[in-house]
Amino acid sequence: MYYGFGTMIELLKKNPKTIVFTEGSDPRILEAASRLLASSFLHPILVGNEEEVFRAAEEAGYNIRGAQIIDSYHFDRFDEMVDIFCELRKDKGMTHEEARKILVQPNYFGTMLVQMGIADALLGGATYSTADTVRPALQIIKTKPGHSIVSSCFILVRPGATGENEVLAMGDCAININPSEDELVEICGETAECAKIFGVDPKVAFLSFSTYGSGKGPDVDKMRNAAKKAQIKYPTIPIDGELQFDAAVSPRVARTKCPNSNVGGHANTFIFPDINAGNLGYKIAQRMGNFEAYGPILLGLNAPINDLSRGCNAIEVYSMAIITAALATE
Ligand SMILES: CC(C)(COP(=O)(O)OP(=O)(O)OC[C@H]1O[C@@H](n2cnc3c(N)ncnc32)[C@H](O)[C@@H]1OP(=O)(O)O)[C@@H](O)C(=O)NCCC(=O)NCCS
Repeated sequence: MYYGFGTMIELLKKNPKTIVFTEGSDPRILEAASRLLASSFLHPILVGNEEEVFRAAEEAGYNIRGAQIIDSYHFDRFDEMVDIFCELRKDKGMTHEEARKILVQPNYFGTMLVQMGIADALLGGATYSTADTVRPALQIIKTKPGHSIVSSCFILVRPGATGENEVLAMGDCAININPSEDELVEICGETAECAKIFGVDPKVAFLSFSTYGSGKGPDVDKMRNAAKKAQIKYPTIPIDGELQFDAAVSPRVARTKCPNSNVGGHANTFIFPDINAGNLGYKIAQRMGNFEAYGPILLGLNAPINDLSRGCNAIEVYSMAIITAALATE
């Protein structure tokens, strides 16, 4: 199954979705929303004060006629939202008074719109940090059954030499700061599944500064052990580690460092040891390797909620909105 943008748009045309943008008056969101409104496959909900949102759109020169704008301060189902939130957070001792203060914040309010079924998906983070975008999702939408963590991956795309796009997946570059061995196994499974959605037949490398024991220490052991556990858990996916990045992607280097590896030299799905390595890794590919980077795509949540980079542009908002909503058709 290849989910290029054309395929995603076709899926959404057959099954239109609603996506909530938590930063309704941001010019990049307004530009993306005006493009979505001009088509009919994805309906935007903009969170914010109606007057402010329309004024921002007019000033920036975007037509958002027909957009649904919901103001957390004047939402007719706010009392119901507060009740649901208190119930969800009852083990934290959430009071109605506290809930009211939290739920007027657009990131929490937008996430509750998804939880209440008013929207199918959410995209935020044009101005919020990743942590502030993701935290409400972790607390409200929560992890899917059978999952212990929410993680994330980036899909990287650039034109390949043969005319076909080169597509890679990298996880977890954005959520789990220092994942354990078992969490890395879960990140591997989720990242490989996401890679498949984007047409990648995953060959997974657990990355390290060491290949097959060339380096020593607990960081190396973590990646080697995680790779072994992942091989057992996902026997149909080629997985290997620990591998250095050159051994993972260069057939010439792999012949020297890991000649018997079924992944070495041909990896297309990369599991990083921690968020430092992952975040730097995808950004180096994006900024110096001419890859378009889509993500972070959140994995393991009960509903599609995604985060934008604060440095994003309107094209990235539009693309991420389509990816996020297409995941809601899954
Ligand atoms: C994800 C993240 C925001 C959570 O941070 P936090 O809110 O301070 O963490 P907390 O431990 O207070 O957890 C908040 C809630 O989320 C849950 N949670 C935290 N991490 C989770 C994960 N990976 N999966 C599922 N749930 C998680 C906690 O259980 C807790 O739930 P509760 O309130 O119901 O008990 C944090 O791991 C983080 O900052 N990651 C890096 C984000 C970043 O800066 N990325 C780089 C830019 S792309």
